Amino acid sequence: MGTPDHLSIDALSEKRDAFVERLLQATRGTFEIFSIYLGVRLGFYDALSPGGWLTSSGLASRTGTHERYVREWLEQQTVAGILEVENEQAEARARRFRLPQAYAEVLSDQDSLNCLAPLTRLVVGAVHPLSALLEAYRTGDGVPYAHYGIDLREGQAGINRAIFLKQLGQEWLPVMPDVHARLLGVPPARIADVGCGAGWSSIGMAQRYPHVQVDGFDLDEASIELARHNAAGARLTDRVQFYLRDAGDPQLAGRYDLVTAFECLHDMSQPVAALRAMRQLVGNAGAVLVVEERVGETFTALGNDVEWMMYGWSILHCLPVGKAEAPSAETGTVMRPDTLRRYALEAGFQSVEILPIDHFFFRLYRLHT
Ligand SMILES: C[S@@+](CC[C@H](N)C(=O)[O-])C[C@H]1O[C@@H](n2cnc3c(N)ncnc32)[C@H](O)[C@@H]1O
Repeated sequence: MGTPDHLSIDALSEKRDAFVERLLQATRGTFEIFSIYLGVRLGFYDALSPGGWLTSSGLASRTGTHERYVREWLEQQTVAGILEVENEQAEARARRFRLPQAYAEVLSDQDSLNCLAPLTRLVVGAVHPLSALLEAYRTGDGVPYAHYGIDLREGQAGINRAIFLKQLGQEWLPVMPDVHARLLGVPPARIADVGCGAGWSSIGMAQRYPHVQVDGFDLDEASIELARHNAAGARLTDRVQFYLRDAGDPQLAGRYDLVTAFECLHDMSQPVAALRAMRQLVGNAGAVLVVEERVGETFTALGNDVEWMMYGWSILHCLPVGKAEAPSAETGTVMRPDTLRRYALEAGFQSVEILPIDHFFFRLYRLHT
């Protein structure tokens, strides 16, 4: 038994009841996430988003799905307050549903900064290897990134896509005027994008700076394939290339004007080796940009306003992924600024500067050689 709370019986009951209510609301939220996942993966929101009312058979025939399942999903979405129904008193198959326009942007417009559809894929992906994860907690082993599968990979790609295409080159890089000027200058600047995942950051930088050459590196084969596919779709294969490489490989060669690492250092088993390689790639003249989660400076019981989410990713995904190779720094998603400073100094950098970008989820660090 732990130390008693020293609360009165009434206060204890009130606290218990509030917790029961909280878990019920969390269950509701969990069902919402998984039901939205179904809608995203099966193309229901895309089919509903042009507006207009659809019956269950109308939606089923547009998406190649089974009417009875679709009807249940439409009713569930309506009761959850996501869809609207035009004629709720009608016979079940005659009821017509629609997606409110304001929600269509969030659920089906992948170019919008407000699109959260990929978040549901990330959540589902994070629990994909659940039994391996349970086993890892017992043995201390890790769970490789590839075992999290397509939803984690594509969810990760999707959740940052609009940020990389709309904010990275337009708002983030210009806060480093010397880097911005170099990226616009000649001869064409070279960028290495380590832990590039599906490559949207590389593509975003190449779109914003029309002369730069970008090399993306990632350890995950499926991500590199996806990145190449995305670069081809963006007609950038002449300036953006992707390579299956470990960011910490001391053999990584070349000289770059800018080396970036977006949301990936905390996933690496050996972040110091990766930073050392990044330092080598920029020599004494280039710049290094690391973008990480905007977690608090220190651990507190309340956490800051993003830590509830970052600890969630950490216990299910980032820590096990970081432990997939030994030795491991065992960092986890909640990599605090002091941890990054320590890694950077160990890797040979002189100092770490926090850039003046006010983003809810991200903190931008420039590492000085
Ligand atoms: C959370 S994802 C971030 C992907 C991308 N930068 C983004 O922001 O969407 C982390 C990525 O780091 C990659 N990664 C982890 N360890 C790596 C290493 N040692 N070398 C290269 N890539 C690595 C993973 O394969 C994964 O694609």
